[in-house]
Parts: sequence; structure tokens; C-alpha cells
Amino acid sequence: MPYDPGTVDLTAFGEDFVADPYPYYAKLRERGPVHRAVVESGEMWLVVGYDEARAALADARLSKDWRILGDGQEEAGPVAANMLESDPPRHTRLRRLVAREFTPRRVEALRPRVQEITDGLLDAMLPAGSADLIEELAFPLPLTVICELLGVPALDREAFRGWTRAILGETGDIDQELAAGDAMSAYLSELIEDKRCGGPRDDLLSALIRTRDEDDDGLSGPELVSMAFLLLVAGHETTVNLIANGVLALLRHPAQLAALRADLTGLMPGAVEEMLRYDGPVERATYRITRAPYPIGDVVVPAGEIVAVVLAAAGRDPGRHPDADTFDIRRAPQGQLAFGHGIHFCLGAPLARMEGAIALTSLLTRAPGLALDAQAGPLGWRPNPLMRGLNRLPVVF
Ligand code: HEM
Repeated sequence: MPYDPGTVDLTAFGEDFVADPYPYYAKLRERGPVHRAVVESGEMWLVVGYDEARAALADARLSKDWRILGDGQEEAGPVAANMLESDPPRHTRLRRLVAREFTPRRVEALRPRVQEITDGLLDAMLPAGSADLIEELAFPLPLTVICELLGVPALDREAFRGWTRAILGETGDIDQELAAGDAMSAYLSELIEDKRCGGPRDDLLSALIRTRDEDDDGLSGPELVSMAFLLLVAGHETTVNLIANGVLALLRHPAQLAALRADLTGLMPGAVEEMLRYDGPVERATYRITRAPYPIGDVVVPAGEIVAVVLAAAGRDPGRHPDADTFDIRRAPQGQLAFGHGIHFCLGAPLARMEGAIALTSLLTRAPGLALDAQAGPLGWRPNPLMRGLNRLPVVF
């Protein structure tokens, strides 16, 4: 008989769970690697053990394509045709088309510009003596970088932030989610049309448009829009949280911060990996659907069910990372899953690591007195079903 763990209602823990989900995941993990749970976005299976999470991320028996649920609905909206919502062979094709443009060389060439943007943001922020670090650095840096990389001009940031959050399910309002999807789609379609008419340019979106126009196997119109959408959203929503959660972890662990300050160049790459493991930007990977009954540990998840791989729980599994609740920048957390695993492994990982390291190195160098702003009240976490991020991070320098 398969073991039936029953259903856990994590919403019952309200704000406490959103603010610090780790003890709740630890309790679940002690009982087993997979649980049926009610979370803010509904009922689903949560994979909380490291080995099972790693295996599930790379298992073709779990689909990323909602169409397999076969409810007869046509795909709609700007996200529907993107690679993160696709299985092979469509995923293979979409990933290949962007990977050949999103090369390590294109990413490395961005380094001086990432530094320049960071310097400009710090120039503006530091004289005030205090700031919301998200508003002044963690949010504008990755958004500016991804917009420049794609060739998206002076984007209305507030509108864009609102659309993204609605599309990511943060408002909990399906009408708002659909309207934001339509608005984003219309904006990107118009931009792509402008670029097509405006002559050749050296940005990633123009390269993808050329791929569409010149290659027999190029991107269709909707695929181009959803590719641009995915890169824009995945390219900044996550990196914001890497910078902000990373700074928060350092400020809450003064000995680690002091050690890092003493050898910024030598320790920063490992510190970024530890920030990703300890309190990474993506709490739960994007949902997967069981094609057939799927055994995990002693549990068999029935066909057609939603599975969420909890990256935050995998990162704190003591079976993989000894003393997992300790933040240790020298740990070198081999095999941490913050960027996923398998065919959907994050396309932007090298860019995200570069942005994180540059932002943190520059901030710590130029703000020797950096501290949490004790006057600013308690920190609030965003009620996002997938991401783990703060609403704001008030600091003084
Ligand atoms: C610290 C920052 C980042 C983190 C933690 C992160 C995390 C992830 C994770 C966990 C996945 C896999 C999701 C799944 O399997 O369900 C993923 C996929 C992806 N990420 Fe990132 N990401 C980051 C930054 C970026 C950036 C900067 C870009 C783009 C410029 C990007 C583009 C993508 C894309 C396109 C995919 C889909 C890949 C595929 O389906 O094959 N990400 N990311």
C-alpha cells in the first residue's frame, strides 16, 4: 500500500509561513520527501527533500506543458508559448534558438556596463544616508541590464512591475492577471514591430527577430513575444531577490559580513552561491504536472497532479548540506538547486551571478557602515507563490 501522508494546510500558518517558511519545510522533510499541501495558490504536491527535488527537476515523467491536462483550452497570453512552459521537442527548439544568441560572450561583454549601472545607482543612493535598497539598487540594476540586453527602451518601470507581479499570481486576482498578460503582450508586440521596421540593431531581441525572419525553423510571432516576456521577467524578478536576500543574510550574520569584507574578491563567488542556497530567490520551481502515477519515496503521486519542487527546502536539507540552517559563506554548497536542474536549468545563471557579485562587491566597498534601518519597522515578504523576496529593504550606510 502506498503511504498516504494526508494533506497539510500551510496557509493556516499565514504570515508566519510567508516570513520564514524554513522551519515548516523542515518539519515536513522530517516526515518524508513529498507531501500533499494546500498553499496560497491551491492544492499541490510539494517535494521537500534534496535528492527527490533534484531527481524531479530532471524527470521527463513530470511535464511543464499545461496542455497535457487536456482541458481543451487553447494556449493564451504572453507566457503560454515559452520554453519554461514546454517539454521537448518544443522546449529543445526554443532553448536552442535563444541559447545561440544568449552566449557566454554576450554575457561577459556586459560586465563593464553592469559595473557602470551599479556605480551610477550607488552614486545616487549613498549621499542620502539611508534608502530602500530594493528601490534604489536591487530592482533597477537587473531591470536596466535585461532591458539593455534585449533592447527594450525606456520602459515604464512601475507599469512593468505591476504587470509582472500580476502575471506571477501575486495579486491573487485572475482578472488582473489576464489583463496584465494582455497589456504586456501588446507592449512587446508593438516593440517587436518597431524593431523589425527600424533596421538592424545589435540587441538580443533584434537577433531573435532575425532568427525568426531568416531561419526556416525561426520563432513564430507568439513565440517571439513570449520569449521576450520570459527573458524580461525571469531576467530581473529573481536577481532582485538574490541581491536583497543576500544583503539581508549578511546583515543578520555580522561575522560572515566581516569575513567577506576582509576578502571581497576571494570570497564573493562562494558567498553568492551560499546566498542562493541559504535564502534563494526562487522558493518553489515552476509547477510540473505528472503524466502518469509518479512514485517519490513511499508516495505515489497520481497522474494529472501539480508538483512543486521546493528549492528553498532542498537547499536546507541537512542530508545534502550539513548544518543546513547555518549561513556560511565559505561552505561552497556543491550542487545547490537555486537555478534548477536538468533541461530547464536557468539560462541566465551566469548573468545573475555576475550581477549579484558586482552589486554586492560595490555596495560593501562603498558603504562600510551598511546596516538595517532599525527605525523602519518590520520587514515584509511578498506573498508570491514562487518567489521569495522582500517588499522593501530599508538600510542606513
Ligand atoms: C539569481 C537569479 C536567478 C535565479 C535564482 C533563477 C532561477 C531559475 C530557476 C530555478 C529556473 C528553473 C525553473 C524550473 O525548472 O521550474 C530558471 C529558468 C530560467 N531562467 Fe533563471 N534565474 C535567475 C536569473 C535569470 C536571468 C538573469 C535570466 C535571463 C536573462 C533568466 C532566465 C531564465 C530562463 C529563460 C529560464 C527557463 C529555462 C528553460 O526553461 O529551459 N534567469 N531560472
